[in-house]
Amino acid sequence: MRSSYPLQKKRHGVDFLREITHLRPRTNTFAAAARVRNDLFFGLHNYFAHHGFLHIHTPILTASDCEGAGETFEILAPADTDSPDREGPCSDYFGTPRVNLTVSGQLHLEMFAHAHPRVYTFSPSFRAEKTLSTRHLAEFAMLEAEMTFIDDLDTLLDVTTAMVRDAVTKVNPADLELLAQLAPQLASSGSPSRGKLDAAARAEHVRAAMHRVEQLAGEYAVMTYTEAVQYLAAHPRAPKWQYPVRWGSDLQAEHEKFLGHQIGRPVYVTHYPRGLKPFYMLVDRVPATIPDGVPVDPDLGGDFATVANYDLLVPDLGELLGGSLREHDADALEAAMQRAGLNVAAYQWYLDLRRYGGAPHGGFGLGFDRLVKHVTGLESVRDVVPVPRYYRECRY
Ligand code: 4AD
Ligand code: MG
Repeated sequence: MRSSYPLQKKRHGVDFLREITHLRPRTNTFAAAARVRNDLFFGLHNYFAHHGFLHIHTPILTASDCEGAGETFEILAPADTDSPDREGPCSDYFGTPRVNLTVSGQLHLEMFAHAHPRVYTFSPSFRAEKTLSTRHLAEFAMLEAEMTFIDDLDTLLDVTTAMVRDAVTKVNPADLELLAQLAPQLASSGSPSRGKLDAAARAEHVRAAMHRVEQLAGEYAVMTYTEAVQYLAAHPRAPKWQYPVRWGSDLQAEHEKFLGHQIGRPVYVTHYPRGLKPFYMLVDRVPATIPDGVPVDPDLGGDFATVANYDLLVPDLGELLGGSLREHDADALEAAMQRAGLNVAAYQWYLDLRRYGGAPHGGFGLGFDRLVKHVTGLESVRDVVPVPRYYRECRY
């Protein structure tokens, strides 16, 4: 072996290994992480195959922005780039105003949910979020499912709980044990946990790894967003929040982390204010009643409407998945699009799904790389993707 070979016998930190993405699969840690990823991938497919779901390949190129967050990467064909009229219709190649990489396959999955009542897709999603958080990638794998003829959230919660439990039990415990011993030694340079571990520390890491998997395979708690805000606002041990806890404001990572630690198991948070969530979610018939003493976001304008949605928050990880019942009334959906400032003309096909024999339905999306990160115990989603793409990184 050449002496310049970057992988030497000493332990390298993840930050160094991220610089040599092309060589890191040869390390024991990344090889084990790839096996765990594979076990979880087939574990999830296996769950859907055995529960009557049809896999659909949803498109990567799309004219829609499912989440309406404007975080899409635009696609340009060679002729488009020198189009003199960049303000008007842009994609000369496709002949549509704008084509981008999908942020979610949900809307396309819904086309098929009206033909086959249980469908899912396991596809790449792309978001131009300018963040280097340990939970975000520019290209990530999302598992999404859609179920028709359901009108309560509990059905969705039952499916996601069973699916996650089922998948994590398919992971080879020998790989988990190996990773538990190796991953902490790969902490970023400067981290106090860097370096060789003694036997007691190794045993402690193995225990922690098994505990993370047992948590995912165990019981999940459920609370409404309103209860979560009440809990966070009133908790005597709550830290000094960087972002205020208020009804109508989103839960930030610090809030999710604290909730997870206090509850000590995965927790579903349901029925968020509609202003925090995308246009397609079903609005609850009865608005929230705000308990005494719960601070309210002053910008809310007295809108206490909530949606039939849920996020699964996992201790130490935060949001693993999110889903909702979908608005199935065409007029109500169109009104929600208008409220969200969407170009309604571009979503006529989505409204047609309701106009021509729609049915109550709902679904969810799970961030697969986040699941792999949590189960492997590696530091970031950047460490569990074969060739990660994130802000300022797309060398390969
Ligand atoms: O919560 P999100 O944005 O939901 C949707 O896109 C829905 N359309 C899904 C659906 O109902 N079919 O994304 C779903 C999950 C999140 O819970 C998170 O785990 C993950 O996808 N996720 C990301 N993972 C890695 N990098 C990113 N930039 C991510 N953004 C979301
Ligand atoms: Mg979400």
